[in-house]
Amino acid sequence: MHIAFDLSFTHTEGRWARAGSWIGRDFPDARMYMELAQTAERAGVDMLFFGDGTGIPDTWRGSIAPAVEWGIQWPRHDMSPVIAAVSTVTSAIGFGLTYSSTFMHPFYVARLLNSLDHVTNGRIAFNVVASTRSADAANYGYDELPEHDLRYERMEEFVGVCQALWDSVTPDAIIRDRASGRFADPAKIAPINHRGRFFSVRGPLPAVPSPQVRPVLVQAGNSARGIAASARFADVVFGFGANLRGQQRHRERLDEALTAEGRKPESVGILWATQVIVGRTTEEAKARRAHVLEFWDTEAVGAFLSHNMGYDLSRLPAAFRLGDLRDEIHAAQASQAGLIGALVAEYGDDHRMSREEFFEHGWKSATGIDHSIVGDAGTIADALEENFAATGSRGGYMFSTPLSMPSGFGEIAELLVPELRRRGVLAPRYPGRTLRENLAG
Ligand SMILES: Cc1cc2nc3c(=O)[nH]c(=O)nc-3n(C[C@H](O)[C@H](O)[C@H](O)COP(=O)(O)O)c2cc1C
Repeated sequence: MHIAFDLSFTHTEGRWARAGSWIGRDFPDARMYMELAQTAERAGVDMLFFGDGTGIPDTWRGSIAPAVEWGIQWPRHDMSPVIAAVSTVTSAIGFGLTYSSTFMHPFYVARLLNSLDHVTNGRIAFNVVASTRSADAANYGYDELPEHDLRYERMEEFVGVCQALWDSVTPDAIIRDRASGRFADPAKIAPINHRGRFFSVRGPLPAVPSPQVRPVLVQAGNSARGIAASARFADVVFGFGANLRGQQRHRERLDEALTAEGRKPESVGILWATQVIVGRTTEEAKARRAHVLEFWDTEAVGAFLSHNMGYDLSRLPAAFRLGDLRDEIHAAQASQAGLIGALVAEYGDDHRMSREEFFEHGWKSATGIDHSIVGDAGTIADALEENFAATGSRGGYMFSTPLSMPSGFGEIAELLVPELRRRGVLAPRYPGRTLRENLAG
């Protein structure tokens, strides 16, 4: 079992204001991430992961004001300089960095990741995302997000260009012979001459090959097309299963797609997105959960949910039938997965719900409380072991927490990770020289 910490949201959705959070530091102070990374490395966590989104939520009331006022999914910085800084105070833990293949250019990203792989000494992973949010697209010249499957075609070409660029200078091309003054062997450095549907890149990469040569590739899409893309190039998949059946289906579909690509299903693990609230006792964990639920505001919840659904929930009447809301969201081409799907499944189409009640459920969803594992280390470790066995025993977990920073993650590192290690279920602690080698162990 491999474990990573998902640091995509270390300050948003009220985390910044919780008691004991960001003490003596304000986001985006890199020192908070340095302290957290050192704690995580002592525990043997494989990777710190940084998701990304570049637009400020604006679906709720058609305005960024509520998201800005309440710190909902904003602010979000480019974390590459933070990773560079954190790598100087750690030596083994890996870093996952996210860029969108829909908006970025592969030459820029391949070059940046090569540099980061040097700075981190072979500890970088690239999480490539197709992007789903219109607020992100608006910052890169799109009136509308390009069509779903087209984004994946672009992703596959994007990754192919990156791989070709990383391979365009072979590691033994660099001679550095001071006596003769020859720096490199031109026979081992070649242009890639890529001309595709989306990109034209001549290459080669103007860089010294990095320790991993190719950074580890992570991908998260879980539609059929998204899984096909994972099967083509991903080293690790970031998975979100609403329940065990959903996880098992993802695993089955990925295995089929990997086989179709001629790859071994056992070679690609899924790290499951999993929020945990751990305490020294189950009572303490439950009290922490209750504390998270105390802070909420309809504007904050509305901004979060509307952004993620792509549907403006400020139009909700005082009371409504759940089935009607689901149909209206469907008609608006917005996402019916997530909260509304879960509520319909739980209460049925005909259930009448008040606006207030809906937003109470919404806050549980926004904070992840409705799908968290809550308890002492032993209880959580039991649940993880059982889930790991039921989902193919490959990959592991990407932990997140709604609690204070960095203590929320600190307690996962200090209570839960040692319990998992004591049980002998974790992969060996940093057996290799690079992140790729460590994740293979
Ligand atoms: C666990 C998980 C994490 C994701 N993280 C990000 C992210 O950090 N940034 C982003 O823009 N999209 C992220 N996505 C969105 C995916 O990259 C993808 O665009 C989305 O799931 C839609 O593709 P699909 O229809 O294939 O699922 C994530 C998706 C999942 C399931």
